[in-house]
Amino acid sequence: MKDIVILGIESSCDETSAALVRNGREVLSNIIYSQIDIHQPYGGVVPEIASRNHVKKISSIVDMAFKEAKLNYSDIDGVAVTYGPGLVGSLLVGLSYAKSFAYAAQKPLIGINHIDGHICANYIGNDDVKPPFLTLVASGGHSHLILVKDYDDYTVLGQTRDDAAGEAFDKISRTLGLGYPGGPAIDKAALLGDPHFVEFPRAYLEEDSFDFSFSGLKSAVLNYLNSMKMKGETYRPEDIAASFQMAVVEVLVEKTLSAAEKYSIQNICLSGGVACNSLLRKIMKQRCQEKNYKLSYPEISLCTDNGAMVASAGYYKFVKKDFAPGDLTAKPNLKI
Ligand code: KG4
Ligand code: ZN
Repeated sequence: MKDIVILGIESSCDETSAALVRNGREVLSNIIYSQIDIHQPYGGVVPEIASRNHVKKISSIVDMAFKEAKLNYSDIDGVAVTYGPGLVGSLLVGLSYAKSFAYAAQKPLIGINHIDGHICANYIGNDDVKPPFLTLVASGGHSHLILVKDYDDYTVLGQTRDDAAGEAFDKISRTLGLGYPGGPAIDKAALLGDPHFVEFPRAYLEEDSFDFSFSGLKSAVLNYLNSMKMKGETYRPEDIAASFQMAVVEVLVEKTLSAAEKYSIQNICLSGGVACNSLLRKIMKQRCQEKNYKLSYPEISLCTDNGAMVASAGYYKFVKKDFAPGDLTAKPNLKI
């Protein structure tokens, strides 16, 4: 079969990224411009600033992707772009650019759900990962447990009822004064802390539910910190970070394993920014070994937002000729 090369464009939050990927799994280039430094002083992403910086950067990022891959515009087969979920102004930049690019290059446009992109990051550089598998998608905006029955056949088994896992990391980090983004900061601080310093609550919800809830944990941490302050007692942020992280990770791991058991799935994947978390990777690895399950996760740079995951998802839609209509628009609340 002829090789298929897809240009993937991602701009749903604060990363402007473009990538060229061959046959859904081989990265030819993956240029990621992160705006973290720009948003850091605000303690979170400022939507208008994010959109303005996407506009500023997108053409040069796409050019760099072609240059690095040593390809011309005419060498690609399709243009894949994230059209939701995400920040509407940010999504519109990537989508408008991709539409114009596809029109000028006379290539089909493929609309990608950002969560689908995170899932497909597992295929990159890893020929062993093939459906069926169970994946935990945990990022700043989403926490889902998804059964991937085929490349285009997903069943959502559970999702967050309130905060996403990454959102909880970001909020607790801000409260502890550890900075933004919170996930990497808490991950690092927790290495120096006691994960059992405080046994924060684990929200398992109803028996057999694969949904998540992190708002109770977030309140429990905030209440604990307030009561320490009122009593004039001190604490080490590292101990709170480690205890909080352990509470999140235990729930993510146990829910994933019980879903695997219920659906008799032995292959498990991790996706999304929180899949970078070192404790999550470690405990999930240990528990999967005990159960004889096969665990995979993308390399760190492919867990957080990037164009390669969008191009990979685009490939599986391209082969099914699942192209976007001409009136495709940004859908900030797009569901998987
Ligand atoms: O997938 P992503 O780049 O963007 C969204 O789709 O939301 O994920 C970003 C999220 C942020 O909340 C960030 O704090 C979290 O992923 N994150 C981590 C780690 N690295 C990034 N969370 C926990 N541990 C990490 N090492
Ligand atoms: Zn993401």
